[in-house]
This record gives sequence, structure tokens and C-alpha cells, in this order.
Amino acid sequence: MPADNQQQWRRYAIYPRPLAGVSSVDLSMDIFGHRIDLPVHAAASAAHGLWHPHGEVETARGVRAVGSILALSHGSTRSPAQVAPHSGPYLQQLYLPQERDVALPFITEVTGLGAIGLILTIDQIPVPFEQPFRLAGQAGAVVPHWQAYPPGTLPASSFSAADITWLTGHSELPVIVKGIMHPDDARVALDAGAGAIVVSNHGGRQFPGAATPSEVLSSVAAAVNGRVPVYVDSGICGADDVVRALCLGADAVFLGRPIVRALAAGGANAVTTLLTELRDQVASLLALAGVGNLADCGPEMLLARSGGSVQ
Ligand SMILES: Cc1cc2nc3c(=O)[nH]c(=O)nc-3n(C[C@H](O)[C@H](O)[C@H](O)COP(=O)(O)O)c2cc1C
Repeated sequence: MPADNQQQWRRYAIYPRPLAGVSSVDLSMDIFGHRIDLPVHAAASAAHGLWHPHGEVETARGVRAVGSILALSHGSTRSPAQVAPHSGPYLQQLYLPQERDVALPFITEVTGLGAIGLILTIDQIPVPFEQPFRLAGQAGAVVPHWQAYPPGTLPASSFSAADITWLTGHSELPVIVKGIMHPDDARVALDAGAGAIVVSNHGGRQFPGAATPSEVLSSVAAAVNGRVPVYVDSGICGADDVVRALCLGADAVFLGRPIVRALAAGGANAVTTLLTELRDQVASLLALAGVGNLADCGPEMLLARSGGSVQ
């Protein structure tokens, strides 16, 4: 995991407030009208078939068992039709093709399958959509493969407000724009109709030298000013990082690599265990920090160490 993303979260210490008398913490939250039990969710990540024979079906089971929500990658190795019965309400991530209308049957399909939001990823120039997933180190081995778009479809090579407007105009689902890292881009996304944003540098995989989410989260959240939910990912490893993110303005966090590692290590049970432990640890930390629910988390709970600032 890129060190920058992790280190920058740790620039913030959390004030213990044990005299606040908080004995129970409510971690439940709403995502587009659906009640979710904790503010920690599974980020869209491709090719779970590389790590488990049941691929995203296994991840979905593990995530659902703890009352969290799955963001299903456009590059999943199991199809949305295979995963949706196991995930329940889920978020569908997609990339846009160069010929935008090629995406329409996919949008219609996932809407019918129970997706409750579309995550539009804007920070990756993806590989051609028909590229099969190969098992690392095993020449020629190919994992079970499914495709959102017809073979030969070319991915979009740039994004603008017009793409968000196009998607919101062609879907009844809210559009969550993933990869926002600047307050001005947040305003552009909102003006174009975004229903939520994800502050993310793609886990540091896309853009060497990119700003990290912990550095920009509070200014992006200030620009959004409560108009839509703000989610964040990249470098979140433990319950303390989750609390930092909530205090800096996130409504919830997504985990990429930690979910994939759990899937590889122990399938659905390990994914459930990871999220259950995080849930319990976040609840303990918030109680010790003196707050009993997510809405009361704020920057006053943080102490900026050298190089950090709390707005
Ligand atoms: C193996 C892997 C595959 C990923 N595939 C996708 C993808 O298909 N679509 C997408 O929007 N993001 C993808 N991501 C990025 C994640 O959604 C997320 O932004 C990132 O992993 C968060 O950082 P973290 O891994 O430090 O938690 C992927 C990440 C990983 C590690």
C-alpha cells in the first residue's frame, strides 16, 4: 500500500475524551435510502477471481453478513447478475466507453438487478475492456471472465462535467463520482448532477506524486457543504483512520486492499471478520473520543501534528 496515503492519515491524533460519559455508539447510516450498519464499505476492486474461486460472490457474502455495502467493480470476474443475489442492494462501479451509448444496456441491467447507485470512476485510464484477467505468475492462465461492454469497446480517455450530466440523464440511479481530489472539481461534479462523491487517489496506484485524500478531504467536504454525501478511500487501514476520515468530513469510508487481502486469506468469513472487528473498534474509539453517533464527528476531535491542519 503506498506509504504516503497511510502516513498522511496519521498526521492527525484523536483527542481522548473519557469524561464525556458515552457508553453506546450508533454507527448506522443511510445510503440512498438504505440503512447500513456501519460506515465502512468495500471499494470497487477488479478481478476478485484472482484471489478466490467464487470471486466477487464470495466478497458480497462477507460484506452483506456484517451489514456493509459492496461496490462492485466494472472489472469484476463474476457478472452483476451472479453477484447481486448475494450482495443485496449494492453500488455498481463503471467506466465510460468512448461511444457513451454502448454503456446503456449495462446501466439498464444493473438497475434491474438492484444496484442503488452508479459509481463513475474518473481517475483511471483503463485497459481495453476486453483484456482478460491473467493469474500472476501463471502464463496463459485466465480467471473466469465477464464483460460489461461488447468486445472491442474502447474506454473513454478523458472526463468532463458533460460525462456526469450524460450519465445522470440516462440513469434513474444516483451517480457517485469517484476520484475527486480538489474542491473545484467537487463543485463541478455537483453542478453536473453528482449524487455523491468519493475523495480518492485510487489507492495511490494511478498518479505518482498525487495529493493524498487526508490532505484534501476537509477542503473538498467544505466545498460540498453537506449538499451530497462525501465518501473517501485510499490508505485507510485501521479504526483510527476511519475515525480520522469521519472527523475530516467523510460520511463513510471504502476499503480497497484490506478487503482483497481478507478475501484471499479466508474468503467471505475473513471479509466479515475484518469488517466486524473494524466496526467494534470504531465504536470503542468513538466512545473514548466522547461521541455517540456519526453526525457528531468533527475536526474538533483531532489534533494536527506537525504538517497537518484542522479546519
Ligand atoms: C486490486 C485492485 C483493483 C481495483 N480495481 C478498481 C476498479 O475496477 N475500479 C475502481 O474504480 N477502482 C479500483 N480500485 C481502486 C479502489 O476502488 C480504491 O480506490 C483503492 O483501492 C483504495 O485504496 P486502498 O487500497 O488503499 O484502500 C482497485 C484497487 C485495487 C487494490
